Amino acid sequence: MVDRGIQQKGLRISRPIVLIGLMGAGKSRIGKDLATKYGFSFVDTDDEIVKAAGCSISDIFELYGEEAFRDLEERVISRLLMSNVQIIATGGGAFMNAKIRGVISKYGISIWLKAGLSVLIERTSRRKGRPLLERGDPETIMKGLINERYPVYAKADIVIETQDIPIDDTINATAEALAAFFDKQPETKNEE
Ligand code: S3P
Repeated sequence: MVDRGIQQKGLRISRPIVLIGLMGAGKSRIGKDLATKYGFSFVDTDDEIVKAAGCSISDIFELYGEEAFRDLEERVISRLLMSNVQIIATGGGAFMNAKIRGVISKYGISIWLKAGLSVLIERTSRRKGRPLLERGDPETIMKGLINERYPVYAKADIVIETQDIPIDDTINATAEALAAFFDKQPETKNEE
């Protein structure tokens, strides 16, 4: 059961917060810092998938294929959304799955951390282990993903522009947007 309506250090959230966005958008970093600042728990769905599978994301793609990864992703996110009110960082492809969008819309609040190509390329170049970007030229792939995914990411409940903004400002902007969102929408969205 979801434990609704937690107030921590001035920020009240009544549903799980789900961070979405492309690889390198800062979902894990911002999610972790936001959770620490306001005293919520944080979970990264890719980490949970790795734990469940017992191997890395690259190995899942290589050994079982992307489809198996997406199935696991769907199960992990659904379970996390129904466990407790917390901050959840998702992998970049999660919100592209209509079923995942459906459970997020029903049980959580989605926040798109929106960043531009140059930032995404710069940040993703720092860490390996993203099989999608290893299929060719990362910049070309990232451009394709922006074109394909941004219209879908735009369906998120909240959009935060992260481009060239210090992390603390992004965290404050996210907390303010959440406060405004919950003020407008008392706990009715998923109670039907
Ligand atoms: C993916 C993003 C990755 C990871 C997987 C697939 C995607 O997560 O889930 O490699 O489809 O965009 P991050 O967005 O956390 O890098």
